[in-house]
Amino acid sequence: MTTKLTITKPDDWHLHLRDGDALNTTVAFSARQFQRAIVMPNLAQPIINTELALAYRQRILHASPSGSSFQPLMTLYLTDNTSANDIQQASLCEHIYAAKLYPAGATTNSSNGVTDINKLTDVLHAMQKHRLPLLVHAEVTDSDIDIFDREQVFIDRHLSFIRRQFPELRIVLEHATTQQAIAFVNAHDNTAATLTPQHLLLNRNDLLAGGIRPHNYCLPILKRESHRQALLQAATSGNPKFFLGTDSAPHTMQAKETACGCAGCFTAHAAIELYAEVFESENALDKLEAFSSFYGADFYQLPRNKEKITLVKTLWQAPASFPMNDQALIPFRQDIALQWAVQASD
Ligand code: NCD
Ligand code: ZN
Repeated sequence: MTTKLTITKPDDWHLHLRDGDALNTTVAFSARQFQRAIVMPNLAQPIINTELALAYRQRILHASPSGSSFQPLMTLYLTDNTSANDIQQASLCEHIYAAKLYPAGATTNSSNGVTDINKLTDVLHAMQKHRLPLLVHAEVTDSDIDIFDREQVFIDRHLSFIRRQFPELRIVLEHATTQQAIAFVNAHDNTAATLTPQHLLLNRNDLLAGGIRPHNYCLPILKRESHRQALLQAATSGNPKFFLGTDSAPHTMQAKETACGCAGCFTAHAAIELYAEVFESENALDKLEAFSSFYGADFYQLPRNKEKITLVKTLWQAPASFPMNDQALIPFRQDIALQWAVQASD
């Protein structure tokens, strides 16, 4: 049995760090294990242009632990008003790596997102031309579409069309949750997906059976077990189209444990450890390094990291909560012991 595993330092290709005081909590968790992270732009005031992205990057760096080499890779938030010029400007900036499509109303802080995807033609054309990858929150928002079907319907109605129209555009289907998403990614060139720890570890029973568990509530919502099996297969298959993106999404306990709670699981306190648990459960620890540290960098056409980290098999319990914004932040699966730990570097 493997009890110690040294891998190239991983990157997180989908991360929410929030802003302001919260950065003093969030950044260190990711910097501890990840060399780079694609930072999501869905702040209360979304990151809609290069200037805002650069200022946000400075705030993140300012909140990074001293001596840390953590690199935030910034993204742009697409709105109805994003122009081809905004895209060109972003593509010329060495710190911006992608633009994110949130259908308006799909998730946390998406009210300024795109209301009509058919009107994005000029923007997507510019992204293809300037080689800026498109990151997609692939869910429709129509109230008549069942929440468990929203990813599949988005793929059928929108993503297939975008894929056909812009064959050279690199697209990441973020936090894939269904077998249909996996099949779509497999079927198309220049198409990849991030996979989260929560969607690899849990199914919708973990959200709803035996009591409602707000800390397992995220979007896209957890699906049934057959979909989780498809995700596990994709993650551990050695297929470079699938790579690590935690979607760690901190909300305070007060915002989650309430009558209408926020979507998002905070996993950054133990992200690579949770993935190690997933891969071990599938007898695929030998596939963890490429999934966590190679395939994402390759897709983004960035160099692979040089540094290493070591994971050791050991049981440990995450704290009941962490302080954030003078409130409590509850870590994902806090009640279950973690099986792997990152060895402290000396
Ligand atoms: C994310 C957040 O809180 O910002 N929430 C989530 O449930 N995943 C937004 C997102 O990625 O959908
Ligand atoms: Zn997210």
